[in-house]
Parts: sequence; structure tokens; C-alpha cells
Amino acid sequence: MADRRPDDMTRITTKELADAFIEEQLEALRAQIGDKKVLLALSGGVDSSVVAALLIKAVGQQLTCVHVNHGLLRKGESEQVIEVFRDQMKANLIYVDASDRFLDKLAGVSDPETKRKIIGGEFIEVFAEEARKLDNIEFLAQGTIWPDILESEKGIKAHHNAGGLPEDMKFELVEPVKILFKDEVRVVGEALGLPSNMVYRQPFPGPGLGVRCPGAITRERLAAVRESDAILREEFAKNGLEGKVWQYFTVVPDFKSTGIKNGERSFEWAVIIRAVNTTDAMTAEVEDIPFDLMKHLVSRITNEVEGVNRVLYDFTPKPTGTIEFE
Ligand code: XMP
Repeated sequence: MADRRPDDMTRITTKELADAFIEEQLEALRAQIGDKKVLLALSGGVDSSVVAALLIKAVGQQLTCVHVNHGLLRKGESEQVIEVFRDQMKANLIYVDASDRFLDKLAGVSDPETKRKIIGGEFIEVFAEEARKLDNIEFLAQGTIWPDILESEKGIKAHHNAGGLPEDMKFELVEPVKILFKDEVRVVGEALGLPSNMVYRQPFPGPGLGVRCPGAITRERLAAVRESDAILREEFAKNGLEGKVWQYFTVVPDFKSTGIKNGERSFEWAVIIRAVNTTDAMTAEVEDIPFDLMKHLVSRITNEVEGVNRVLYDFTPKPTGTIEFE
């Protein structure tokens, strides 16, 4: 396959164009891989999911997917990866629940960059451990896309070839969507039959809910982030805001305030709702959420999420706030 996106390449915007791309890729993948084995870290994000779906079609059981649950995923995310790839697509999928391992390492760590480093480093370690258990793997598949390549060429973002794996683990790379823009990856994903909530999902940071649980992560506060996020996503979907708002989530900072619950004094956390629109994530505007929906969200979150007695809305555009809190 082409190493670079040809200047005159037609933007993939339709099912027909996606089908043609898929046919071409399946042939190229079979030619590259032959009867050898391929490994893929499958996060459930758009890019790795589309790569998985392409490889399952191209080489079936020669692909092994490893899904690492770092304990910082959203509610239902790992379950969906297992349902779609193992149950429906019959992929060879290894599920590793490494939640305890990550959360133990993160205990008491409050510096944002240190948290990110621990999560990134531990991820590579868990993935490498799984890879070492497998025999005869020659290829590593990655969901690299065209903007990743452009950004690494410009020195904006380090694009880690081979995912930062240890030096002794050498694989040939398989990158079937590397000449595509994000919107094209989504169209290809849809043509491959992936569920639309997977293909059109909002951006989600690699360190996951870890950056939405500011300061030192505790299991209790993390559970409050996960439950409130699930309520927000459910209500946005019900009220036609899914797919309209670029990114929306909840944050639970490490402070408590006084309230009243069931006629008694409570001293509990506050959930902050953030909902923003942007085109490139460099700047962002706050979404104008209908007031009735706001009130409904407050009621559901304070009633259903343990340890929470208050809900706040973040009105800050970027700048001055970043989209995430850490
Ligand atoms: P900020 O917070 O910098 O976020 O305004 C801009 C976009 O990037 C996402 N983001 C991350 N994505 N790893 C990621 O993969 C990270 O460490 C990370 N931090 C922020 C954020 O969700 C938003 O879409």
C-alpha cells in the first residue's frame, strides 16, 4: 500500500468509496502478512477498532487482539469491545483486566504528568507481557492515521512507532489506515459494520477517566466519575445531543462540600459537567445545554451517584481552560 497519502486522493465520504478502499486494503494486508501472525492493541477507540475489523476480514484467526482494561475506561467500554469483536466478529481476543495493577500504582500520585507517565508506562508493560506469552508473532498492527504522521513530521507530537515497546521486541508494522483522515476512518468503520456508537464516539484521552479524577485517584471517586459520565452520556443520547456536541464528560475534583441528603447533613463530592464544541481541539466553546436538561441531570446525578451532593457546570471556554482538567 501507498506509504504516503497521494496528493490527488479522493476524500472517502461514501460507502462506495469506503468499500473500494476496504477491498484494496484486504488484498494489500493478505499480501503483506501471508500466513504469519499479527498482534494488535485494541483499545475500543475508532482507529484501533477499524484496524481490527479490517484485519479480521483479511486474515481472521492470524490476528490476536489484546484489550487492556486499565481501570480508567468508561462504563460498559470493555464489555462492548468483547461483545463486538469476540462475540460478533469471532476475533481471537485476549482480555486483560489490569485495573488493580494500574490503580495500585497510581495510589497517592497527584501530579498530572506523573499520572500520565505511570498509565502510559504500565500500559506498555502489560501489553508486552501478553505479547511475550504468544509464539511466532511477526507483525504489530497499529491504528496510525494520516494526521499522526503529519504531526510527527512537524515535531508537534511524537508518534511512537511500535507503541514504545521494549527494544528486544521487534515487529514489522501493519498500518492499514495510515493514509486516512479521521472522518474517513469513521466512514470505513461504518462500511465494515462496526456499531455507530463506536465509530462516531467522542474523543477520549489515552489516560482515560484518570485525568477526570484530578489529583490522587481513589476507587470511590473514580466510581463517581464513571457513574456520572454514564448518566451524562445516556441523557445526551436521549436528548439528541450525542453526535452534536463534540466532547462531554464529568469531573470529580478532590474536595467535599456540605449538603443535605434524606434530611441529614452530608459532606460529599461535587460533580462538574463539561460539554464543549471545537473543530481542532485547539480552542473550544461551551455548549448551551437546555436548562431543563441541566435540572434533570442534577437530579439524576445527586440521586444516583454515591458520594455526590452537588453538580456544577463548567462555563469556561478554551482558552483559558483546557478541555480536560489535567
Ligand atoms: P486539552 O485538555 O489539552 O485536550 O484541551 C484537547 C483534546 O485532547 C484530548 N487529550 C488527550 N488525549 N492523551 C490523549 O490521548 C492525553 O493525555 C490527552 N489529554 C487531553 C482531550 O480529551 C481533548 O479531546
